[in-house]
Amino acid sequence: MPVANINPTRLWRRLLELGEIGKDPAGGVTRLAFTPADREARELVMEWMRGAGLTVRVDAIGNIFARLEGTAPGRGVVLLASHLDTVPQGGRFDGALGVLAALEAVETLVERGLKPQQPVEVGVFVNEEGARFKGGLLGSSAVVHGVTPEELRQLVDDQGISCYQALADFGLDPEQVAAARRSPAEFAAYLELHIEQAAVLEAEGLPVGVVTGIAGPKFITVRLTGRADHAGATPMHLRRDALAGAAELILAAERIAREEAGPATVCTVGQIRVAPGATNVIPGSCEFSLDLRDIQLEDRERAETRLKVEFERVCRRRGLEGEWLPGEGFPPVRLDESMVTLLGTACREAGQREFRLVSGAAHDAMQFAGVCPVGMLFVRSVDGISHSPEEYTTPEDAAVGAEVLFHALCQLVAAR
Ligand code: HGY
Ligand code: MN
Ligand code: MN
Repeated sequence: MPVANINPTRLWRRLLELGEIGKDPAGGVTRLAFTPADREARELVMEWMRGAGLTVRVDAIGNIFARLEGTAPGRGVVLLASHLDTVPQGGRFDGALGVLAALEAVETLVERGLKPQQPVEVGVFVNEEGARFKGGLLGSSAVVHGVTPEELRQLVDDQGISCYQALADFGLDPEQVAAARRSPAEFAAYLELHIEQAAVLEAEGLPVGVVTGIAGPKFITVRLTGRADHAGATPMHLRRDALAGAAELILAAERIAREEAGPATVCTVGQIRVAPGATNVIPGSCEFSLDLRDIQLEDRERAETRLKVEFERVCRRRGLEGEWLPGEGFPPVRLDESMVTLLGTACREAGQREFRLVSGAAHDAMQFAGVCPVGMLFVRSVDGISHSPEEYTTPEDAAVGAEVLFHALCQLVAAR
């Protein structure tokens, strides 16, 4: 069923244009937070926002909010948001589709002369991915919970640049970052469209799905210290090899997540550093990241406890010093039944079947759980691939997603 309201040609043209920004010679798109590519993408989107007649502002941490005033004074804002930053060599749709579909829905409202009762904002949150400054969901944390200048100093990228310095270099004043916080009373509802980043919708043969819950991630850094030694002269039984210890732990993490935790537990090691890193030196130290997630908090905590036991066993058996450094963690959230129902109705109004699913990926939406009613709509990912140059969503599915979002927005703001 062709979409009846939004402009699919404009949406797709913008997606392709935005996808050219931060193109990585090694493949995919790399638009890390507060980099020139991020700035270029933001400028382009803000130009489109202004062109749609929205009032654009950038908050103290760099989040963008493009506002359409409502007709009823004093009503809470309906926020449609996502992110523009990517992982290294990521895809063109993760975050970007959510921002552009939100803009498309609001721009269609304006073009139809429909006046919303509540104010509506299209939002772009900074450093959602946490690819540059670890932990992620930084912009939405600053809005919902507040962030301090000291916390920004503690966030340091792989080049040793603090988030505090990156904000200053970006033309913002990190000392004022607390001003990004907004009162919960300001929000009437939060809606986020996002690519699914998995293959459930593809298996169902559906373009869109309604999200009922979001798995909670916990990030842990593991640091092992053994003894650097001669790779040729040191007998195997005298070694304290930090990398071999890490390898044993990494396989244990995979086994625990797969066989000893909950049905939805996942654990990933995405980063590892070895020192001194010479071919003929037994690694004296090794540091790696653990990304542990589950839709059930107790299953995640059970997996973390099992992992810690393995960590202590490996250190003891191999004579390694170990540091277990818990980082950011976000609890899993259930999305509001009222918003699941509203999005289900919007799917039907757009000629789509209502299909419900959970999100394994984290999203800014989870930060608004408990602040206001939260809804998320997924759009099919071809082959379920994401965080990869192969990430793809068809123009048809992108348009259906934006159309459903438009119907959901009209219900929320009682536009007429
Ligand atoms: O890592 C995540 O879940 C998201 O892509 N930021
Ligand atoms: Mn995302
Ligand atoms: Mn992502």
